Amino acid sequence: MPNSQQTAPFDYVIFGATGDLMMRKLIPALYNQLRVGHVPENARIIGSARSDLAHDEYISRARSALENFLPTAHRDANLIERFLKKFQYIAIDSTKSDDKNWSVLKETLDQMPADRIRVFYFSTAPQLFESISENLHTHNLITENSRVVLEKPIGTDSASARAINDGVSRFFNEKQIFRIDHYLGKEAVQDILALRFANPPLNAVWSSDYIKNIQITAAETVGVEGRASYYDTSGALRDMIQNHLLQVLSLCAMEPPESMDADAIRDAKVNVLKALRPIPENKVSTETIRAQYGKGILDGNKVPGYLEELGTESHTETYAAIRAYVDTPRWKDVPFYIRTAKRSARKVSEVVVTFKKGTSQLFADKPGADRLVIRIQPNEGFEFTLNEKNPSTAPFTLQRTTLQSRFAPADGSLIPDSYERLMLDAVRGYPALFIRRDEVEAAWAWVEPTLKVWADNKVPMETYPAGSHGPEEARHFINATGDQWHENMKD
Ligand code: BG6
Repeated sequence: MPNSQQTAPFDYVIFGATGDLMMRKLIPALYNQLRVGHVPENARIIGSARSDLAHDEYISRARSALENFLPTAHRDANLIERFLKKFQYIAIDSTKSDDKNWSVLKETLDQMPADRIRVFYFSTAPQLFESISENLHTHNLITENSRVVLEKPIGTDSASARAINDGVSRFFNEKQIFRIDHYLGKEAVQDILALRFANPPLNAVWSSDYIKNIQITAAETVGVEGRASYYDTSGALRDMIQNHLLQVLSLCAMEPPESMDADAIRDAKVNVLKALRPIPENKVSTETIRAQYGKGILDGNKVPGYLEELGTESHTETYAAIRAYVDTPRWKDVPFYIRTAKRSARKVSEVVVTFKKGTSQLFADKPGADRLVIRIQPNEGFEFTLNEKNPSTAPFTLQRTTLQSRFAPADGSLIPDSYERLMLDAVRGYPALFIRRDEVEAAWAWVEPTLKVWADNKVPMETYPAGSHGPEEARHFINATGDQWHENMKD
C-alpha cells in the first residue's frame, strides 16, 4: 500500500543538473524521499545541463553523489539502482531557443498524460531564469500542472529581483512559482511556529513586555570553498541575511497567522518584513558591522584569510551583523541582532531569546538572564535556562538550571534534510515553505541602504581571525545597546 504521504506521479526536470547543488542536495533528497516511500515508483527525474554527457556518464556522477553525500545509514545498493533508473539526462543549452534537444525533452515529457505534474527546477544562475522560462513556453512545455522552482539568490537588489520576478511571471503565474529558501525547509526553523504558538506559557511572554533582545546567528566554519567567484560578488548580507536570516526573524516576530494556510503564514511574515525599521544611510555605520576573515586556526589547522584565498583585493564581507527593530506594538524597541559569518569558531545556527529581569525585587540579584536558545543546527532542539533555588545554601540563593530538549523524529530516524521537504512540497503544490514575491521584494528593500553604504565603502571593513567569533568591533556594537552576544553571556 502506498505511503499516505506519497505524492502523485511527477516528472522533475532539473536545469543545472551537473552543478554542485544537484549533486550535494537534490539527488540525495529525492533518493531519501523514495526511501521513505514518498516518491511514487513511476516518477521520473530528468537532468539537464549544457554538458554533452552520455546517459551512463551522468548516471555514474549521480551514483557518486549518493556515495559521497548520503549518510551511511541511508545507503542501500538495491534502492540506489532502483532510484537511478528514474533518471534521464538531456543536454540542453537552456538559454538557446534553437537547441535541438528541446524537442527531445518535449517528446520525453509527452510520453506521459498531459495532466501529469511537471516540476521545472532552475538550479542555475538567476540571470537565466527568464530565458529558460521563455524557452519552456516557446517549446510548449508548460502545462496547467507545471510548477517552477527558483533557487536563490533572487537578484542582487530590489531592481534585479523585480526583473527576475517579472521575467518568470510572464510565463508562470504566482501560484506556479516556488522560490526556495532552504532555511524554511529546516524542521527546526518550522518548529519556531510550534514553540511560539502551541505553548501558552511561551506565547504569553513573547513580546517586549518580557523579551529583552533576540539574537539570530548563522555561523559556519567553512570559508568560501570553491565558490569564490559567486561569493565575492555577493557577500554575507546578500548570501545569508537578505533571505535565510530575515525569514527566521519573520517567524520569530510575526503575529499569530490566521491559520496554517500558506498565504496566512506568508501574510504574517511579509507584515514583519514591511515593519522592519528602515536603516537610513546615515545610520548604517552604527547599526551594522561588516568584516572579512583573516588567517587563523580552525580545528587545530592553519587556514588562510579571505583575501589570500581570493588572491586579489576585495570589498566583500564574510561577516555581517545588523541591529534590527520591528516596529509593531509587540516589539517596541526590542533589538533583533542578526549575524552571519564564514570561518567562524563553530558551525551553529540558532535563535537566542533573552528575557528581561522582571520587576520583582524579590530576587534582584538573579545570577543571569533567563534565556531560550532554539538550536536550528546542529543538535536541533532547545535549551531553556531558568533560575531555581540553590538547595545547599542558606539563606535563600538562586542557581541556574537548563531544560534541554532534543528535537528528533519519534521513530528514531534522522531529521530529513531541508531539500527533501521542499522538493516534494513543490510537487504537492504546497507553497507555505516557499517565499512569495512580496516577501523577496520587501527583504531587498530593507537591506538596500546598507548594501549601498557598504558598496561605497563608507563603513570600515573590519577583520577577524578565522576560527574566532567575529571582529572585536562586533562586541562594542552589541554592548552599545546594553547587550552581549550569546557566547559572551555569563551564566
Ligand atoms: C546558502 C549559502 O544559501 O546557505 C551558503 O549560499 C551557505 O554560503 C549555506 O554556506 C548555509 O546553509 P546551511 O544549511 O549549511 O546553514
